Amino acid sequence: MKVLVTGGAGFIGSALVRYLIAQTSATVINVDKLTYAGDLRTVASVSANPRYRFERCDIRDRDAMVRIFQRNRPDLVMNLAAETHVDRSIDGPAEFIQTNVVGVYVLLECALEYWRSLAGGEATAFRFHHVSTDEVFGDLGRAGAFTEDSPYRPNSPYAASKASADHLVRAWHRTYGLPTVVSNCSNNYGPFQFPEKLIPLTIVNCLRERELPVYGHGENIRDWLYVEDHARALYQVATEARPGASYNVGGGSERSNLQVVQTICAHLDKLRPRPERSYAELITFVPDRPGHDFRYAIDATRIAHELSFTPSIDFEAGLFRTVQWYIDNESWWRPLLENRYDGQRLGLAGVKNSAP
Ligand code: NAD
Ligand code: DAU
Repeated sequence: MKVLVTGGAGFIGSALVRYLIAQTSATVINVDKLTYAGDLRTVASVSANPRYRFERCDIRDRDAMVRIFQRNRPDLVMNLAAETHVDRSIDGPAEFIQTNVVGVYVLLECALEYWRSLAGGEATAFRFHHVSTDEVFGDLGRAGAFTEDSPYRPNSPYAASKASADHLVRAWHRTYGLPTVVSNCSNNYGPFQFPEKLIPLTIVNCLRERELPVYGHGENIRDWLYVEDHARALYQVATEARPGASYNVGGGSERSNLQVVQTICAHLDKLRPRPERSYAELITFVPDRPGHDFRYAIDATRIAHELSFTPSIDFEAGLFRTVQWYIDNESWWRPLLENRYDGQRLGLAGVKNSAP
């Protein structure tokens, strides 16, 4: 099987590429533009494998993408290329519309043209898997969980761009018959996550003895899934789901942001103790994210029943492993902070009344 993965130099895409090379016999074509969030060091462990290829390309470049389809003739496309940071989408939504909406439209057109050129068996087996987020469903109060039938209520520019893409994918399936599947996942964490997101930012700030910014009162809740579990779920959805299906994927690990930050501090107090002080002393409450979704939670009944997928790594063990990984891999994250992003607050530009 030949799998075309877009965004394979990013956090989840690279975990998927590593999974495909290590756990399956698939050939992988990794298509990535290498934005600030893309880094080929994430796939260095598999890049010499004869089943791995890399194509630097923007998914919006239709001519180039058509050539990539023709040259590689994939059986499966897994689309993870995206702008992904909510705070950046508040500061500058344009790139999010370009990649997450226009890019997905271009990719669907390329996939449709290619799929129509396939003969019977190949056409029946072909799948276009679009990787999406639980943020398309908006947010929840203290109770309840998102199902696949929850209404779309995106609140951030990022979430709205991902919701738009999901709708395009649905339309290309219903109208043109393209065999698509969609998955909507909760928050991921683990190795190689760009240090702008809560968990890696907190860890690297601890290791640099910087303040740990917690938005608002730290009461917002996310459901955390270890990235390698997500990669396995993605492979199952891509290869086992029927065309037109969508699956919610979650970790069953709801934590408030403050709990997450405090747990990281506790792990670091053991692994890399500061003299007579806890890392928790660095916690600093800062103005809230505009439009901040209160809580996400996933009802994962469908993927558990239909595909027998359940996460294998519980949150505390996965977080401990992640903290250890960032301690051991300073040579990965330090240059990112020096050259691409130094940990400054994002997401308040242009928004009035953003104080809590
Ligand atoms: P990431 O930001 O770490 O990586 C995104 C990758 O896409 C980068 O390698 C980047 O270079 C590439 N890219 C961006 N624009 C591109 C373009 N126009 N053409 C080609 N490549 C481009 O993202 P991630 O956290 O790994 O997320 C991957 C996917 O999973 C996204 O679609 C995201 O919406 C979705 N998702 C993420 C999470 C999460 O917690 N991180 C949860 C659910 C769903
Ligand atoms: O739910 C899935 C989504 O999870 C993905 O679709 C997104 O691509 C991914 O970035 C993530 O979005 P979040 O906004 O939930 O992730 P982030 O790490 O930015 O923030 C997690 C929570 O922590 C959120 O409530 C905001 C808060 N936060 C974040 C940062 C960066 C802080 O309190 N302080 C911070 O410095």
